[in-house]
Amino acid sequence: MNKQVIYLDNNATTQIDERVLDAMMPFLKDNFANANSTHLFGVESHEAVKKARRQVADLISAETNEMVFTSGATEAINLAIKGVAENYEKKGKHIITVSTEHYAVLDTCKYLETKGFEVTYLPVANDGLINIEDVKLALRHDTILVTVMYANNETGVLQNIQEIAEIAHAADAYFMTDATQAVGKIPIDVDNMGIDLMCMSGHKLYGPKGIGALYIRQRNNRIKLPALIHGGGHERGLRSGTLNVPGIVGLGAACAIAKKEMRQNEQHIKALRDYLENELLQIEDTSLNGNKKHRLYNTTNILFKDVDSDAMIMGLSNMENDLPLIAVSNGSACTSASIEPSHVLTAMGLNEIDSFSSIRFSIGKFSRIEQIYITIEVVKKCIYELREMILPI
Ligand SMILES: Cc1ncc(COP(=O)(O)O)c(C=O)c1O
Repeated sequence: MNKQVIYLDNNATTQIDERVLDAMMPFLKDNFANANSTHLFGVESHEAVKKARRQVADLISAETNEMVFTSGATEAINLAIKGVAENYEKKGKHIITVSTEHYAVLDTCKYLETKGFEVTYLPVANDGLINIEDVKLALRHDTILVTVMYANNETGVLQNIQEIAEIAHAADAYFMTDATQAVGKIPIDVDNMGIDLMCMSGHKLYGPKGIGALYIRQRNNRIKLPALIHGGGHERGLRSGTLNVPGIVGLGAACAIAKKEMRQNEQHIKALRDYLENELLQIEDTSLNGNKKHRLYNTTNILFKDVDSDAMIMGLSNMENDLPLIAVSNGSACTSASIEPSHVLTAMGLNEIDSFSSIRFSIGKFSRIEQIYITIEVVKKCIYELREMILPI
C-alpha cells in the first residue's frame, strides 16, 4: 500500500515485533524439525518449545505444566469451557458469564445450552462493569464455572476478576477469565488472582497469529480437562497435532518482551490514548463508552452522535485523498462483517443508533504522537463532513 497507515486498531491485532520475528525465523527456515522427533535436530525444536513455555508461564506467574499451546484464544476458550462442562457435569450444569464477553465465550456457552446446560448471562451497568452482587445472586449449588473476561476488547473495561474469583471459589465453582486483551498489557499473577483457567493469544501482544495458550491450574485445586482435539497425544494429551514450533517460539518471545517492557509501554501508550481521548471528547456531542477508571490504558471507545461509524471508518480509509489511512474499528474485528449493533455497547445501555455511532481507537506500542496529532485533525474533519451531510440546510 502506497498510503501512509496510522494503525489504531491494536485490539484487533498487533504488528509483529521484529525481535519476535527474529526469534521465529530459524524455526521457519533451517531449524524446521518436529519437536517430537527424537533425533538431535528434533531435540533443538523440543528445547525451543520448552524455553517458550517457560517464557509464557513466567509472564503470568504460572508453572510450565499449567500451559497448553493452542491455535489462539478462541480454541483455548472452547477447550476450557467445553472441557469443564464435560468433566464436571455430574456436579452441575450451570455456568455464569457476562453479556459483554467475546463471541468465543458467548457462542461456546450457547452451544452448551443446546446440550442441556444452563447459562446465566450477567448484565453490566452503563459503564460496562458488572455488579459483584449479581455474581453472588446468580451462583447456585450446581454452578460449575464462572467465566468473566478481564479486559473488554471493545471498551477496554476491566472487571474486578480477583473478587469474582473469590466469590466463585466460595461457592465451589471454577473461575475462568478471557484475558486475551489484558495479557502483556497489565501484570497478571494467576495464583494470586485466583484464576483457574485463562486464555491468551499471540497476535494481541506483538506475536504471530495462529498461536495461543490456555492456562489450566494444576497447583492446589487441580483442574482436569478432556481433550477437544484428539490424535497423537501432544500437549499432555490435551491438544493433539504437530506443534507449531515457530508460533510457539514467537509467543514465548512476545511474552518475554512484554514482561520486560510492560511498564514503559504503558507510560507511552497511556499518554497517547489520553491525549487522543481528551481532544476527541472536546468535539461537540461526543461521549466516552465505558468506565474511565477501570479500563485498559490503550483503548478509548467514543460515541460521536449522529455519525455513522461505518461511514467514518470508510472516510478514514479513503484511498482518493492524500491523507493517511487511519485504521480504527467499530465493534470487534471478529464480528465487523455483522450488521448487528455491538452487543457490548447495547448491553451497556446504548441504543442501536448510538451503538452504530461509536468508534474504538486502540493504541499500540508502535503508535507515535505525530500519528495521534494527524488522527485528531482527520477525525475532526471527517465528523464535520458527515454531520454536515445530515444537517438540514
Ligand atoms: C477478548 C477476546 N477474546 C478472544 C478473542 C479471540 O482470539 P483469537 O483471535 O486468538 O482466537 C479475541 C480476539 O479478538 C478477543 O479480543
